[in-house]
Amino acid sequence: MAADDLREIALAIVANGKGILAADESTGTIGKRFDTIGVESTEESRRSYRNLLFTTPGFEEHVGGVILYDETIRQRADDGTPFPALLAGKGVVPGIKVDTGAHPLAGAPGEAVTEGLDGLRGRLQEYRGLGARFAKWRATISIGDGLPSDYALSANAHALARYAALCQEAGIVPIVEPEVLMDSDHSLDDCYEATSRTLERVYDALYEHRVDLEGTLLKPNMVIPGKGNADQASPARIAAATVHCFRRHVPAAVPGIVFLSGGQSEVEATVNLNAINQLDGRPWPLSFSYGRALQASALQAWRGQAENVEAAQAAFLHRARCNAAAARGEYTADMEALVST
Ligand code: 13P
Repeated sequence: MAADDLREIALAIVANGKGILAADESTGTIGKRFDTIGVESTEESRRSYRNLLFTTPGFEEHVGGVILYDETIRQRADDGTPFPALLAGKGVVPGIKVDTGAHPLAGAPGEAVTEGLDGLRGRLQEYRGLGARFAKWRATISIGDGLPSDYALSANAHALARYAALCQEAGIVPIVEPEVLMDSDHSLDDCYEATSRTLERVYDALYEHRVDLEGTLLKPNMVIPGKGNADQASPARIAAATVHCFRRHVPAAVPGIVFLSGGQSEVEATVNLNAINQLDGRPWPLSFSYGRALQASALQAWRGQAENVEAAQAAFLHRARCNAAAARGEYTADMEALVST
């Protein structure tokens, strides 16, 4: 596929404040989410929940791409339409998670490396045939005593770059996701430093592996204090640190940066994204690729009951609308009152 085509796909996903719905929870992770609402996780309950999200009227005005899981990309909507075709029919680009998870990195206690490169070329070809036009690979980076190590950063950057090069060969836009985790007690400055070191390694590796940056998207953490840190920064401070960090480490050729929510609440993730988009000097669109921060209220409203589907769709649509407004720097707190069922 021509480089221009990959760039067009990446730009379409983030056009005009649109972002990404991360609905690629593995079977284990969606099971944990369903546990919180007392719903048994079966292939049908998972299909039914994803059907609810993807048939929400109007969500395509705010969401340009959806990340699917291997099971989900093979499933069908209630009316029999395969999920990738349903999404593509609404102008939403179907994507696919292709890593097989973070595993302990040998010789690096407390650190992980993401696996999934074996056989990836063949899997990408199959996923493209099933309709995927972008993919996701998530590396996790932990902050701690002496962590992250240079070793873990380079092992993860290497895997991300191998993955990204294979995606582009297959005509698929790679989302490069190095996530500096927020579940620790580190400060905002610690996160700034770890995120800087991570991004340096990642862009070095992408360059070495001949990845065309114009056909990629970056999915990073915001620069934010750990959940256990007593000094929880204001949105303005988080925004200033985030934009400062990314301007120094992410080439302007990258067509978009789509943040993960990483454990922020729904409203925090929106407010922080909005604050980021009120700052000057942003060479790329800065949008969202949220999982929990787009779905938490919808899950609570649904609780596995058919009679709650409309309320759950309203909750999802509301968060999608708020986040797309935040990606344009136009979100206001009074939008929170506008959710209707
Ligand atoms: P969260 O927004 O819930 O962090 O999920 C995004 C994601 O896809 C993590 O890989």
